[in-house]
Amino acid sequence: MNVGFIGAGQLAHALVKGFTAAGVITANRITASAPDTDLPTVSGLRKMGINFTTSNKEAAHRSDVLFLAVKPHIIPFVLDEIGPDIEDRHLIVSCAAGVTISSIEKKLLQYRAAPKVMRCMTNTPVVVREGATVYATGSHAEVEDGKLLEQLMASVGFCTEVEEDLIDAVTGLSGSGPAYAFTALDALADGGVKMGLPRRLAVRLGAQALLGAAKMLLDSEQHPGQLKDNVCSPGGATIHALHFLESGGFRSLLINAVEASCIRTRELQFLADQEKISPAAIKKTTLDKVLQQPGVSSTSVTTESRVNLFNNRTGVKK
Ligand SMILES: NC(=O)c1ccc[n+]([C@@H]2O[C@H](COP(=O)([O-])OP(=O)(O)OC[C@H]3O[C@@H](n4cnc5c(N)ncnc54)[C@H](OP(=O)(O)O)[C@@H]3O)[C@@H](O)[C@H]2O)c1
Repeated sequence: MNVGFIGAGQLAHALVKGFTAAGVITANRITASAPDTDLPTVSGLRKMGINFTTSNKEAAHRSDVLFLAVKPHIIPFVLDEIGPDIEDRHLIVSCAAGVTISSIEKKLLQYRAAPKVMRCMTNTPVVVREGATVYATGSHAEVEDGKLLEQLMASVGFCTEVEEDLIDAVTGLSGSGPAYAFTALDALADGGVKMGLPRRLAVRLGAQALLGAAKMLLDSEQHPGQLKDNVCSPGGATIHALHFLESGGFRSLLINAVEASCIRTRELQFLADQEKISPAAIKKTTLDKVLQQPGVSSTSVTTESRVNLFNNRTGVKK
């Protein structure tokens, strides 16, 4: 099995590092593609020994399982670009927040019957094999495809299948979750520094407290409220601190954060459906190369013709 990544950013980098560390696939069987070669994530991927190309089509040719790891609004462009290259063997796995299986299948059905599509929502802790992944299966993917994806994703953390309509909520919780945790850690460390701890020690202690708490919860399977109660002695320091958190709306803030991420994810699907790609996004793909062709100047290329140039170049028939 060969694995490909369209997009070579944070998520692709984290997944490749996790997969190779887990030994589930070797670096020489992985190909990633992105338009720019000077990104830190691209040099990181190259150092890991994977094949890197600036051609999405080449990444498709060289893979059996193909992860779509680009921003949601780029997905329709990528599908038009690689659609003609998708074959029976391909399992397309979209990691993009908000982009539905049906929208991907609809695009690919323009090029071939019964494209095998899966959608997953994971997070960057896959890099240390502590990711949280859910996936949903498309109408043409088979049980074996689900097993294959689960084998890959379970090698880099927790993985389970869900109904697709739960995935946006998962994005709000565990997809965005590491960002909430990093922000909390930064603030906790600030608290430690305020009270006199050196910064490095404060960060380490905060991280260890969150890591330990998460591990305790997973090992004990107790309700988090019970574990919290266990560390609040009557009249003690911790219950005083918790009162402070409650009066600042700590729980509501977290609930609102999950909700906000989930709602934004749904908006991203809407934007992807519109297929209104900004010139900046096109520039990221092939516009620069088009502009470099003799006789083509940036002033002679309108936004509309930019889209056409892009599509013609990739051989897409509208
Ligand atoms: N990061 C996370 O924690 C996380 C978690 C769950 C899901 N996701 C999803 O994963 C996807 C990728 O996220 P990310 O954080 O890895 O984003 P990112 O760091 O911005 O990476 C996106 C990659 O796609 C490349 N790209 C842009 N246009 C392209 C094109 N036409 N063809 C091929 N590659 C292209 C980018 O190159 P340039 O930088 O040159 O534009 C970059 O390498 C998103 O859809 C996101 O919703 C991310």
